[in-house]
Amino acid sequence: MSDNVVWHSHPVDQQARAEQKQQMPLVIWFTGLSASGKSTIAGALEQILTQQGYHTYLLDGDNVRHGLCKDLGFSDNDRKENIRRVGEVARLGADSGLIILAAFISPFREDRRLVRDILPKDQFVEVFVDAPLAVCQQRDPKGLYAKVERGEIKSFTGIDSPYETPQAPEVHIDAQALSVAESINRLLEYLHQAGVLKAGYEPVAVSA
Ligand code: ADX
Repeated sequence: MSDNVVWHSHPVDQQARAEQKQQMPLVIWFTGLSASGKSTIAGALEQILTQQGYHTYLLDGDNVRHGLCKDLGFSDNDRKENIRRVGEVARLGADSGLIILAAFISPFREDRRLVRDILPKDQFVEVFVDAPLAVCQQRDPKGLYAKVERGEIKSFTGIDSPYETPQAPEVHIDAQALSVAESINRLLEYLHQAGVLKAGYEPVAVSA
């Protein structure tokens, strides 16, 4: 960045935008292997928050790579740049008063830490969607693990590209043991305890 660029403060700040929306801005960051369930859980949580009147925006890895990050591939450096850009967008979203949900493999601890560090204190919640590789391979909703098997994709996370598991995530979801509804309830409970859900919450129905 040039030395000649100086930060300009404006009269409307995050607090004013958050007060207008009557909510606590936050980034809920979902990390995990491809097909672990990040996008599904993030989307279902966003639906519930929206129904309850919260203002949200979901940043999804596959979607962001169609636009903002369409120039990036899956080398370590490109993934790093992907998470840096998305982290900055998440920061802008939270600064605008929104609850941002971000679902990215985000395989490197350092990159997730950098996103946490650019946000105001207590506005980053790391959610580890923890599904064993074998389960993700079996689910394979996009047929990508099959392509990896056939040698058609290289540098695939969990196969020949690393995934660094979170060491102290705010929420750890055992995606093998919990249904989507149970995962959502775990998250709602956390958000309630963190004071994000102002009017309490109703757990979603869990089928037997
Ligand atoms: S990240 O590593 O940079 O955080 P991101 O979440 O944006 O990844 O994108 C992951 C999605 O891209 C996966 O869900 C999958 O659908 C697709 N994808 C395509 N190639 C790869 C690859 N080599 N490794 C991981 N995911 C890939």
